[in-house]
Amino acid sequence: MIVLREPNEMRRWSFERRREGKTIGFVPTMGALHEGHASLMREAGRKNDVAVASIFVNPTQFGPNEDFNKYPRMFDADCAMARECGVVAVYAPTAGMMYPPGYATTVSVARLTEGLCGRSRPGHFSGVTTVVAKLFNAVMPHRAYFGQKDAQQCAVIRRMARDLDTGVEIVEMPIVREPDGLAMSSRNAYLSADERAKALALSRALFHAQSLLENGRRDAREIVRAVRERLDGIEADYVELVDAENLEPVNEVSGCVVLAVAARVGATRLIDNIKYCAPAASAGPHTEESAK
Ligand code: PAF
Repeated sequence: MIVLREPNEMRRWSFERRREGKTIGFVPTMGALHEGHASLMREAGRKNDVAVASIFVNPTQFGPNEDFNKYPRMFDADCAMARECGVVAVYAPTAGMMYPPGYATTVSVARLTEGLCGRSRPGHFSGVTTVVAKLFNAVMPHRAYFGQKDAQQCAVIRRMARDLDTGVEIVEMPIVREPDGLAMSSRNAYLSADERAKALALSRALFHAQSLLENGRRDAREIVRAVRERLDGIEADYVELVDAENLEPVNEVSGCVVLAVAARVGATRLIDNIKYCAPAASAGPHTEESAK
């Protein structure tokens, strides 16, 4: 496995692979890799000729009071995990290379970034879409893999990739959970044992909502209320039921929806969600009358 540091070096490597007729699967990360990332990297390797991962803690997607400085950095362990998952090249640029003096360009997606996490993290998604656009330009992948845990990020990047004609296929992979249900996240490392136990209320509440949906409940207010009631005193930033594609809130569940929650447990902000696709409404019973 090789480690590439400069955008031009990365692009040259990818040009070579493309010239050889190979497909490139790409997993962008900020490091602190866990089983969730591993599932993305393995899938990128399975579905493409070569798998590339990037490791870059992107300063522009952190707000001034967020955890950029304390975000876990463990480059050697991350490279070992990437290699073990079949990644053949790691792209790890420095912040100075990504944003040199005079840097002046941002990429932002309207509307989809306004609700959910966008409300309490202004500027976050333009930081994400800008860095992902730059990573796509350097890595030139055929497919890029993202985790459903960041459901809003997935929808925003899918829209950006389509709107900017990147030609990159965005693949969303299911959330990987700990055996007790906690969604895997690099930020789980911040939780004390007590906080970790409290955090389980998030997935428990979502699983309960899932069973309501599977039993045919369709009223968004009822579903959201059921989640809030099961958060065991955790203060939610939001609990929302939104359309899976455009992220607009829904009143009544039909088609595919995301039930998303964000909450602070101690000082750590956690997010989690479930996706649900309602079966298409049946055309109704066939009667002699309707057949006429
Ligand atoms: O999901 C992440 O780890 C980051 O937001 C990403 C996509 C690597 C961009 O920095």
